[in-house]
Amino acid sequence: MIQMPDQSDLLSLCKRRGFIWPSYEIYGGVAGMFDYGPLGCVLKNNIVETWRSIYKNREGFIEIDSETVNPVQVFKASGHVDEFSDLITYCDDCKEPFRADHLVKGLHENPDILSPKELEELFRKNDVRCPECKGKLGPVEDFNLMFKTTIGPGSSRVGYLRPETAQGIFVNFLNLYRYNRDKLPLGVIQTGRGYRNEIAPRQGMIRMREFNMMEVELFVDPDDKGWERFPDVENEKMTLIPKDGAEIVITVGDAVRKGIIANKVLAYFVYTTQQLMLTLGLDPKKLRFRQHLSDEMAHYAADCWDAEALLSYGWTEITGVADRGCWDLSRHAEFSGADMTHFRRFDEPKEIERDAVKAKHKALGPKFKEKAKLIAEAIESKRPEDIKNGSLSVTVGNDTITLGEEFFEVARIKEKVSGERVIPHVIEPSYGLDRIFYSILEHAYSYDEKDDYVTLRLKPNVAPIKAGVFPLMDKDGLDVLAASVYKELQGSGIPSYYDASGAIGRRYARMDEIGTPWCITVDYASVEDGKEKGTVTIRDRDTREQKRIKVCDTEKIIRKLLSGTAFGSL
Ligand code: ATP
Ligand code: GLY
Repeated sequence: MIQMPDQSDLLSLCKRRGFIWPSYEIYGGVAGMFDYGPLGCVLKNNIVETWRSIYKNREGFIEIDSETVNPVQVFKASGHVDEFSDLITYCDDCKEPFRADHLVKGLHENPDILSPKELEELFRKNDVRCPECKGKLGPVEDFNLMFKTTIGPGSSRVGYLRPETAQGIFVNFLNLYRYNRDKLPLGVIQTGRGYRNEIAPRQGMIRMREFNMMEVELFVDPDDKGWERFPDVENEKMTLIPKDGAEIVITVGDAVRKGIIANKVLAYFVYTTQQLMLTLGLDPKKLRFRQHLSDEMAHYAADCWDAEALLSYGWTEITGVADRGCWDLSRHAEFSGADMTHFRRFDEPKEIERDAVKAKHKALGPKFKEKAKLIAEAIESKRPEDIKNGSLSVTVGNDTITLGEEFFEVARIKEKVSGERVIPHVIEPSYGLDRIFYSILEHAYSYDEKDDYVTLRLKPNVAPIKAGVFPLMDKDGLDVLAASVYKELQGSGIPSYYDASGAIGRRYARMDEIGTPWCITVDYASVEDGKEKGTVTIRDRDTREQKRIKVCDTEKIIRKLLSGTAFGSL
């Protein structure tokens, strides 16, 4: 049976030891808001660095940092103003708000897809009542999740805090495409805050109102379904739940060959997400990928696979890997007028036939005299769809002239072209940093009931502190040597912690509880033989095994362990 940690024990550890703190606690706190404490900050940064090492170092993607306050046009175009809402209901008696779909869990297999009317019907049939006071529930309505603001003092210019970092990448597409020298694929990453005015955040870090995202937007040619590094991963296995089937364990290659995942790019990044999660220390038995049902998908998505972690809250989405198609760039092109296309060059120039607007020179000359040539050029720069009700408007210098059909015609022409313009498609792995952070803690948490002892089995790469350094006694030069070992480790970039107080067992326990993988203890033997020959003990958190190593080798050995050498083979 899979063990789950007690949520309140884990949260109290997080608070006591400085991983996370409820925000504004002295004022009673605000639901859905948390601050990262000193250890939490380091763990969070370690997660971000691991993500960067995959996407920037391995994949060669580029990173940007865009604004969090956006003018209304951005989210009108993206669809968030009209579509980004959850369904809300208030209790008629106590007036408490609730996510309507959350109140019918267990009464429907996928409440996410129900309409307001269907939810109200379910409430009525099952006599669903307010969970707080058992009062009657009111009507179910849409509630837009974005935080609204105004930009500028006394201004009526509406702005929104971004609900996803992704739009900052899409609105910068032209800059990014130019930076990439007009080439695709183009991979862009961004980490930063996202804001959602969640209706009823009652699930700790799983549902926050201000949260951290690590997003990746990969722009690809819509016809290019390959991925250069796909062969590196095609024999690797993943656990998938396709939208129309049961859970399967399947190789990445078979998932694409059998049409379970639509293309190699999407499959590659679903697998990359698994790699990232396992590198961060998630338990592979508690990780799976579930495909969205067609009616569950976000307004922008053509397909989506969620990475779900098994937590004490149940299976929980921690990342969405979506195929956003050309939704975002098409919409921003439409709303801004900017050309969001990629020039797809043909291997060989092609002869094509198309309809073109042609000037009728014989009619233009007598009427417009010396201006006729410029007007003819302006006519021929137009497209057939620019003709409105048989008229065409052209601008020459400061004059706009509306011309009747006697001055132009639509004709079929042949021409050689070297390429065509297409709107890139987007594949988006969107990582919820806080949910990943919390999942790492839950999966690492281990409680030994017999000894009432907590060990946080964090992977060394993410552990906030890599080594605890203790003098066995706080005197007789043991303290001086231990302090110098600590300074050497800390100074060389290995985050360490010096602790000289209390019984040695308590000091180990304090380090085990925050996930420190190794502890170094300086004893009398260490000082007797001097810094060059003297030895210290190094203890492994998970096996509690201890070895003696030379004082002067401490840094080298910690580095070896950090790079993956097994403790047993030291
Ligand atoms: P949910 O259905 O749980 O509300 P979502 O489908 O709206 O999540 P996405 O829009 O796909 O989530 O956001 C991408 C990622 O951002 C999610 O996988 C999740 O990890 C994270 N995320 C979304 N909303 C929140 C939130 N309120 N608090 C913390 N993390 C969040
Ligand atoms: N960028 C993915 C999402 O926020 O839905």
